Amino acid sequence: MQIPRIIAHRGSPKLAPENTLASFRQAARDGAAWVEFDVVLSADGRPVIFHDDALDRTTDGAGQVGDTPFDILRDLDAGSWFSRSYAGEMIPTLEEALDLFAELGLGFNMEIKPAPGREQETAVVALATARDCWQGPVPLISSFSRIAVATAKEVQPGWPRGILFDHVAEDWRDAADKLEVVSVGANHRHLSREVVAAVHATGRKVTAYTVNDEARASLLFSWGVDALFSDVPGVLLKSFP
Ligand code: G3P
Ligand code: MG
Repeated sequence: MQIPRIIAHRGSPKLAPENTLASFRQAARDGAAWVEFDVVLSADGRPVIFHDDALDRTTDGAGQVGDTPFDILRDLDAGSWFSRSYAGEMIPTLEEALDLFAELGLGFNMEIKPAPGREQETAVVALATARDCWQGPVPLISSFSRIAVATAKEVQPGWPRGILFDHVAEDWRDAADKLEVVSVGANHRHLSREVVAAVHATGRKVTAYTVNDEARASLLFSWGVDALFSDVPGVLLKSFP
């Protein structure tokens, strides 16, 4: 599959509040071809776009996103913490995000971010929802959760999958084979030229997060890393169009 070299991480989170429609619009203005976002379930099982387990950092709410009913999540302000000019920005639903991507011509990487114990449920709902409302180019589906990646394979086998790591685990090859993933993602701080070569030797792509520095991006690309997730897509796209 084709993955752009620079993927907008949670939208364009240095210029607009992460994982909101405003952030995705900003990523498109920055020139990004793809955005990455995190999908999680509300207490009552609705897929929404949100990164942290807790609501506190990026909304005016408190508590765990997965313990909060959808109607309450939708009343939260997900923009004011970033700047007053984004007051009233809501936590997006998965459907809203995908509709916006279609309108803006964006591709996407959906990261399934399940609450502990809800891995399968989250992947089933996220994949079924995305399948029903997305007619655009084939996305990449990824997760740190092997259960979520395995479930994605069952629900929507035709959509390519990636497995994510902080440090690439010793058993990455077995996991990648079993889950039939096309990419292995890692924290760029823990990547090495050798790991990149080993993943490439299995015919898979390497993705690295979160890279905001041009010199670091240049080094990672020199190792052959295929795609970088960046909080400053507009900056990196100037050097790596
Ligand atoms: O998918 C890459 C990256 O988003 C993984 O880490 O915590 O930013 O979701 P995180
Ligand atoms: Mg993510």
